[in-house]
Amino acid sequence: MTGSKTSAMFVTLEGGEGAGKSTSRDFIVSMLEEYDVPFIQTREPGGTPIGEALRELLLSKEGTAPSVTTELLMVFAARAQHLHEVIEPALREGKWVLCDRFTDATYAYQGFGRGSDLGEIEALEALVQRGRHPDLTLLFDINPQLGMARARQRAELDRFEQEELTFFEKVRNGYLSRAECNSRFKIIDASRSIDDVQDALREILKPFLDRTS
Ligand code: TMP
Repeated sequence: MTGSKTSAMFVTLEGGEGAGKSTSRDFIVSMLEEYDVPFIQTREPGGTPIGEALRELLLSKEGTAPSVTTELLMVFAARAQHLHEVIEPALREGKWVLCDRFTDATYAYQGFGRGSDLGEIEALEALVQRGRHPDLTLLFDINPQLGMARARQRAELDRFEQEELTFFEKVRNGYLSRAECNSRFKIIDASRSIDDVQDALREILKPFLDRTS
């Protein structure tokens, strides 16, 4: 990577379980490489040693599950460190940041899914992010029934993935209502074939990438 190109963008990938985010992330990485754009890829919860340790606790099925408030504070604690240690420095260096999930996941999972107060999430968002928001959010939207059927085939389910279908319906509605009020969202119908999803991604990303060349 040359590091010569600027117009750094903060891009987040969001969606329910089994929406094919990982396959799409690999495709986006190949596009960034094709355009010779300097970038990092990272994820939430995680992205730093502290964040990855919190991720393990958050996804673990062992021991006592965190309370709704504890869970909310854990995702924001991981995020605070992630912004400090990884995201802000990369953006300062002019690198694109491709992040698998960010605060929209907190609104969708903790807010709409678990019932955490949305005003409290907003307050934590302001405290932790200090005005930093993604420039572009790709929402991989899928019917939860189909998504969960895919997720079940993939690997052992984590603590979130073990939730009932109604939880994922709330999460999906949360994401869609966030997308309605934020123009940075692009919704991708993730029930389509991989080829169709990749065509949609190319169409969305090309104008941003053309600006960097
Ligand atoms: P992943 O499956 O995309 O790796 O994400 C791990 C899980 O973490 C996923 O089930 C969603 C959940 N999550 C939250 O509940 N709140 C958050 O703020 C984030 C970033 C993820």
